[in-house]
Amino acid sequence: MNSLKVELGERSYEISIESGAIASLGERMASFLGFNEKIAVVSNKTVFDLYGARVTASLEKAGFEVSSIFIHDGEVFKDLKQVEHVLNEMFNFGLDRKSAVVALGGGVVGDLAGFAASIYMRGIALVQVPTTLLSQVDSSVGGKTGVNNGFGKNMIGTFYQPRFVCIDVDTLKTLPERELRAGIAEVIKYGIIEDAELFRFLKDNRREIHSHDAAALSHIIHTSCKIKADIVSKDEREAGLREILNYGHTAGHALETVTEYIEYLHGEAVAWGMYAEAKIAVAMKLLSDAALREIKDLIEDYRLLVSIPKDIDIRRLVEAMSYDKKTVAGAIKFVLPTAIGRVEIRKDIGKDVILNALSKET
Ligand SMILES: NC(=O)c1ccc[n+]([C@@H]2O[C@H](COP(=O)([O-])OP(=O)(O)OC[C@H]3O[C@@H](n4cnc5c(N)ncnc54)[C@H](O)[C@@H]3O)[C@@H](O)[C@H]2O)c1
Ligand SMILES: [Zn+2]
Repeated sequence: MNSLKVELGERSYEISIESGAIASLGERMASFLGFNEKIAVVSNKTVFDLYGARVTASLEKAGFEVSSIFIHDGEVFKDLKQVEHVLNEMFNFGLDRKSAVVALGGGVVGDLAGFAASIYMRGIALVQVPTTLLSQVDSSVGGKTGVNNGFGKNMIGTFYQPRFVCIDVDTLKTLPERELRAGIAEVIKYGIIEDAELFRFLKDNRREIHSHDAAALSHIIHTSCKIKADIVSKDEREAGLREILNYGHTAGHALETVTEYIEYLHGEAVAWGMYAEAKIAVAMKLLSDAALREIKDLIEDYRLLVSIPKDIDIRRLVEAMSYDKKTVAGAIKFVLPTAIGRVEIRKDIGKDVILNALSKET
């Protein structure tokens, strides 16, 4: 129950989901790293102050030589400059090809440290210790690493799978509530694309989730990781199936772009994106009004966005959608729900349909 496997042949790895999981991190890493090896814990000050001592103690107890490397806190620092800083520190510390990187933090740390691990001496072992809900259910699993540059988000990166993912649900106790809710948006996404039961669980267990009940959180994290792990096992490099994970993201990314990434957290934009894309599905007669209502209610139950300020120009949003990385030859690609738990990929939606659907209030 507390552990899952991402099946990728000899690159398969385990995801361990437990309250207090950090305490056994060292022991777990000793099963695939040599005794006395060097480990760099990459983190930011916010997270390291909270969990750094625990992580370091667990690793040292297992016989590793540990050093820590800090990056600045925030999406704006997810860039090549910080990667270079991390790499330099890794060289200073004398990491070799048998050493490892532990990424301790949210998606920003995970993506950046993962990228650094993937290119240091052509790649050394990487372990993800995600500490935000979003990183626990999404970014720590699946092997996408990278940073942003002037041309856009995540434009530079690699596919590089971790050797182990250690999810300690207790770390969510210190996560700001807004970040927790943003992470829930991705969990709602898994419910809509694959799992009506998860969708119902979210509906019935709002109070438990908000009060950090470890059993409820472990359940939604486990279920989400299982869905992502299965999809990644079948389509590691997003040749097809993995695209369904982009539900809510075409519209969501457009909202992030138009508001210059400062107004909304990623999960908040995705929540609105899921509702917007469900409205498009209704306009295309793929989804019932009743299912749309259920999606809207659940998003609102978690105090996430279903509407955006009137001064945001819908036409600019649609324009931004057509610049999405996932856009092929001008056609905007959407993952559209056909029921709770089922989606379909469509590339034939006209801009007028999108404009109309997004202009509708309901
Ligand atoms: N690689 C992928 O497949 C993938 C998927 C989704 C998102 N991402 C990336 O993930 C990033 C977003 O990640 P995020 O939402 O985790 O944001 P984040 O990493 O910026 O973390 C959010 C904030 O919470 C703080 N924090 C983290 N853990 C905490 C804890 N336990 N207690 C208190 N504070 C804590 C962080 O310091 C930060 O200030 C984006 O860069 C996005 O591109 C990657
Ligand atoms: Zn996302």
